[in-house]
Amino acid sequence: MMTEWFWATVRWVHLVAMAFWLGGQLFLILVVRPVLRRELDRPRQTALTASLGRRFSPLAWTSLGLLVVTGWLTAERRGVIWSTLLEPKNTYGLILATKMLLVAILLALTLIHGRIFGPRLAALAQSPAPSHRQQYQRLLRLSIIVSTLNVVLTLVIVYLSARLVA
Ligand code: HEM
Repeated sequence: MMTEWFWATVRWVHLVAMAFWLGGQLFLILVVRPVLRRELDRPRQTALTASLGRRFSPLAWTSLGLLVVTGWLTAERRGVIWSTLLEPKNTYGLILATKMLLVAILLALTLIHGRIFGPRLAALAQSPAPSHRQQYQRLLRLSIIVSTLNVVLTLVIVYLSARLVA
C-alpha cells in the first residue's frame, strides 16, 4: 500500500518536473521572446532575457535534477539491468539508452547556453564597439539555435519516454 503511494509520487515528480522544464522553455520561446522583440530595443531585450534566464535557471536545473533522480528510480523499479541496455534485442533498453544519451546532450547544451552564452551576450549588449556588435549578432544567432535545439531535444526525449511506457 505505502509503496504504491511512493511510486505514484516518484512518477508525479517525474511528470511535473517534465512539465515545468518543457513548459518553461516553450513559454519563453513562444510567448516571452516575441513580446520582448515587439516591445523593446535590442539592449533592453537582452537585459530582460538575461534577467529571466537568471530567474528560470535554478528552477530549471532543479527540475532537470529531479528528472534524473526520479528517472533512475523508475528504471530501478522497472528492473532495468544497466549492463544489458545495449543488447540488440533489448528494445526497451535501447530506447532508454538513447533517451539517456539525449538527456546528457541536453544537460551539456543547457550548461553552455546558461553559463557561457547568456553572460557573454549580456556583456556584449552593453558595449558600443562595432566589433562587439558583430560578435553579439553571431552569438545571438548561435544562442537561438541552441535554445531551439534544446526544445526539440526535449520533445524527442518525451516522445521516446511515451514509447517506453507504451
Ligand atoms: C537520466 C535521466 C532520465 C531517466 C533515467 C529516465 C527514465 C525514465 C523511465 C525508466 C521511465 C518509465 C518508463 C516506463 O514506465 O517503462 C520514464 C518515463 C518518462 N520520462 Fe524519463 N527519465 C529521465 C529523464 C527524463 C527527462 C529529462 C524527461 C523530459 C524532459 C523525461 C520525461 C519522461 C516522461 C514524459 C515519462 C513518461 C512518464 C509516465 O507516463 O509516467 N524523462 N523515464
